[in-house]
Amino acid sequence: MNFPQTRMRRLRKTEAMRSLVRETHLRPEALIYPLFICPGEGVRKPIRSMPGVFNLSVDEALKEAELAASLGVGGLLLFGLPAEKDELGTGAWAEDGIPQTALRAIKRQSSLKSLVTIADVCLCEYTSHGHCGVVQRDGDHYHIDNDPSVALLAKTAVSLAEAGADIVAPSDMMDGRIAAMREAMDEARLQDTPIMSYAAKFASAFYGPFREAADSAPQFGDRRSYQMDGANMREAMREIDQDIAEGADMLLMKPAMPYLDVIRAARERYDLPMGAYQVSGEYSMMHAAFERGWLEPERTMMESLLGIRRAGADFIVTYFALEAAKVLA
Ligand code: PBG
Repeated sequence: MNFPQTRMRRLRKTEAMRSLVRETHLRPEALIYPLFICPGEGVRKPIRSMPGVFNLSVDEALKEAELAASLGVGGLLLFGLPAEKDELGTGAWAEDGIPQTALRAIKRQSSLKSLVTIADVCLCEYTSHGHCGVVQRDGDHYHIDNDPSVALLAKTAVSLAEAGADIVAPSDMMDGRIAAMREAMDEARLQDTPIMSYAAKFASAFYGPFREAADSAPQFGDRRSYQMDGANMREAMREIDQDIAEGADMLLMKPAMPYLDVIRAARERYDLPMGAYQVSGEYSMMHAAFERGWLEPERTMMESLLGIRRAGADFIVTYFALEAAKVLA
């Protein structure tokens, strides 16, 4: 009789056996939960395109943070929605700005000590035009002016680190921002605050729902002159090389699911801690299928996160953080 000599199924027989030989694991501590902070008190405004995600005033954000801490989630990624926007995005570095206020409140609460606070550094939520940098207009044409943008972003990083961010995470994709932020923070005696660079951030349709959540859609044009072309792997490696040379302490890849190959390539090439951002569109498309009964919520969510881990991400920024932490508990 010619039986197969190797029977892979021997090790799949029971859950105990499968568990023994499992190669990749998810942990709540390696999940980061994004929060969208808005002005006011008692505000918990649902975001239409992201079921289960809200704009939260600082007091409500503290409650959400308590929940995250109690579930063992590793950290928070903070975004601010200012009451007013202007041409330069001055709200981004205001001492009493929205994320600054939230950071101070979180840091005052000892029950939230287990959470690493990460501040997104960008201008798009704060500018009236919704671009991530300074807009120069010339008749019908416009361009995003790199170097003046970098100066404002560095100021923003200092302001967020001063307010208590454990990590600053620039997501603007201007050239030279990491070096400028490192220098500005060092000068402000913030030499011990690490920078997590969104090193390879692609111009993606999957950010659509976020722009509703953060009210940050560009009012004209798009972000393709600063975010990366989705076709380019080698360029992603150059972006990362550049950010490491400028002093990045950690890397963040974004989006996750359509770019798992880039995450894998970066994992093999670089030794820095690296996270991946499962972005708004990835979350919302799964949710849409859950709502129609087309995909099973828990298994789909966990499989999507496991795939990102297996690709090589050490940690994952995800809107599923609380739900996934509950499953892992
Ligand atoms: C800010 C920023 C964006 C996201 C994170 N930081 C939006 C963008 O670049 O348009 C997207 C996150 C998400 O989609 O969940 N620049």
